[in-house]
Amino acid sequence: MTLLNLSLGDGAELRALEPWQAAEFAAHVDRARAHLAPWLPWATTVVDEAAARAFLQRYADRQAAGAGRIYGIWLADVLVGGTLFRTFDAASRVCELGVWLDPDAQGRGLITLAARHMIDWAFRVRGMARVEWWSVPRNARSIAVAQRLGMTRDGTLRSVFELNVVREDVEVWALLAGD
Ligand SMILES: CC(C)(COP(=O)(O)OP(=O)(O)OC[C@H]1O[C@@H](n2cnc3c(N)ncnc32)[C@H](O)[C@@H]1OP(=O)(O)O)[C@@H](O)C(=O)NCCC(=O)NCCS
Repeated sequence: MTLLNLSLGDGAELRALEPWQAAEFAAHVDRARAHLAPWLPWATTVVDEAAARAFLQRYADRQAAGAGRIYGIWLADVLVGGTLFRTFDAASRVCELGVWLDPDAQGRGLITLAARHMIDWAFRVRGMARVEWWSVPRNARSIAVAQRLGMTRDGTLRSVFELNVVREDVEVWALLAGD
């Protein structure tokens, strides 16, 4: 039994992902690490249950402050990925959406569907003006999702963050409430 889940079809569900699920989250990140680590800094630091709990607690704190959110995607009751608002600024009405998925769960449209729910909520319920999507330019699967969501590529922030000890550019894609 779960509280507050959203069906994504075919036995897939979007559910809250909370600190009490740290062991399950750590095991999932372990399984998917080789696939996630080239793109997501946290895939390298979430290496055990304690680190997973600390990561999820940061999101729980952000959620309590109205400044972020995290959800998991379960497929046949196995945690396979998720969606998050890495930032959520109600004052400026701008948020950034992030996603990840186990390679075995790719290619079913789970992320596109879950992301659409997140974007709908941000625009319709929270009155956000702009939902951003940040991706390194060579992350073709991520950019394909941004395109599928109808986002526009606003530009490139050069050398804006460090990923696996290399300074990386980031493409900023965004959807506006009026789009
Ligand atoms: C980015 C990532 C989440 C994308 O996963 P994904 O499964 O490709 O994304 P979607 O859920 O949108 O699925 C799209 C695929 O499902 C297919 N699909 C099937 N049914 C679909 C449907 N109803 N709607 C949309 N797509 C559907 C699409 O054709 C597409 O397949 P293709 O890639 O072979 O063309 C995944 O590659 C990942 O975790 N990468 C590593 C982490 C990462 O880069 N995160 C983002 C950092 S910015």
